[in-house]
Amino acid sequence: MNASDTAGTSDTTNTAGTPFSTLIRTASHEQHTEAETSTFMSDLLGGRLGVEAYARYTEQLWFVYEALEANTGRLAADPVAGPFLRPELPRRAALERDLAHLRGPDWRATLTALPATRAYTDRVTWCARAWPAGYVAHHYTRYLGDLSGGQIIRDKAERTWGFSRKGDGVRFYVFEDISNPAAFKREYRELLDGVPADDLEKQRIVTECKRAFALNTGLFRALGEEFPLSA
Ligand code: HEM
Repeated sequence: MNASDTAGTSDTTNTAGTPFSTLIRTASHEQHTEAETSTFMSDLLGGRLGVEAYARYTEQLWFVYEALEANTGRLAADPVAGPFLRPELPRRAALERDLAHLRGPDWRATLTALPATRAYTDRVTWCARAWPAGYVAHHYTRYLGDLSGGQIIRDKAERTWGFSRKGDGVRFYVFEDISNPAAFKREYRELLDGVPADDLEKQRIVTECKRAFALNTGLFRALGEEFPLSA
């Protein structure tokens, strides 16, 4: 990548001796809290939104995972990003089943990306094509999040809108081929710890991870504006 893309960032975290998985988690902690406590997420988890808002969110996720999963063919051979592309993870097919349930068989006809979603997918696509290490930051931010907090969202969605447990509507959150998520996450963190990148490149990945969180928060902000609660 072009070093000027991330030059001048204020990241000063000392990487020496800290496992990279710990570094990236602790460095993005603040951004995680911000995403988690965004108005849209709080309203969704608080059961205050209608199923239309959930469907609109699911549509936006389709664009995000399309970007994450469209370029995996070429990334598979990449020494940095390749090992992360585990076959248990892709979500696009599950999202398509959820959308068929939420919107009906013609779900594609009315599908539109919000500008905030476009900004997010443009960045993911750029990383996938030009900077595989940056792509890892986006991969981590979404898939490890889906395996973690995603399960809380699934539970809430099932109870709020009456989807059958782990069935149509919430399949996105169900990783059928991962029987032990804790073990899977452990292995994923080991991959992060062994990522073949020097300290400077690791700092850039951390910065990209913060950007990935910010792009998610931007998307929540846009969704929050589209679905304001009547006070
Ligand atoms: C209300 C929404 C959310 C809740 C309740 C939530 C909750 C959690 C919890 C409890 C964990 C820790 C799981 C563990 O240690 O195994 C976690 C981890 C994580 N979450 Fe979230 N989260 C939410 C939203 C998000 C969002 C929007 C993103 C990013 C798009 C995200 C990304 C992550 C990531 C990357 C991790 C893994 C951290 C690590 O262990 O390295 N989360 N989340």
